Amino acid sequence: MKIKLWINEKEFTDDVSPDIALLEWLRSKGFYSIKRGCETSNCGLCTVLLDGKPVLSCSTLAIRANGKYVTTLEGVEKDALEIGGFMADEGSEQCGFCSPGFIMNVIAMKNELTNPTEEEIKKYLVGNLCRCTGYVGQLRAIKNYLKSTKEV
Ligand code: FES
Ligand code: FES
Repeated sequence: MKIKLWINEKEFTDDVSPDIALLEWLRSKGFYSIKRGCETSNCGLCTVLLDGKPVLSCSTLAIRANGKYVTTLEGVEKDALEIGGFMADEGSEQCGFCSPGFIMNVIAMKNELTNPTEEEIKKYLVGNLCRCTGYVGQLRAIKNYLKSTKEV
């Protein structure tokens, strides 16, 4: 099936199998920030934005992205570096395997919620699993990042 979509504002067209997941298709195009961390749609590592909303690319068919705008970590490098810096400051970057999915969801949350409370942050990010940390450092980092975006 033919699809046309925009990834990080660049147009792509392809002929795809109807059963290929968006995750595999994006990686085949070189977007290696997107990782598969589970087989059960519950780790959040594969999060990308589809028309600005976070989706699990492992359980979204590539054909679902037809005509839409996809954003991956490669397209939000400046924000990713900033958030990564706050995570490093709090010692919460650890192995970094979960960071791409976390960062995409933090960006989606920043665009969707104004001044989220700690509970709202936890609820928004509940689908992002980290095997290394206890989330406390990440929570501090996210709060610091959100605060910094208000100060600019
Ligand atoms: S790879 Fe785990 S939720 Fe997508
Ligand atoms: S930092 Fe290692 S899985 Fe999250």
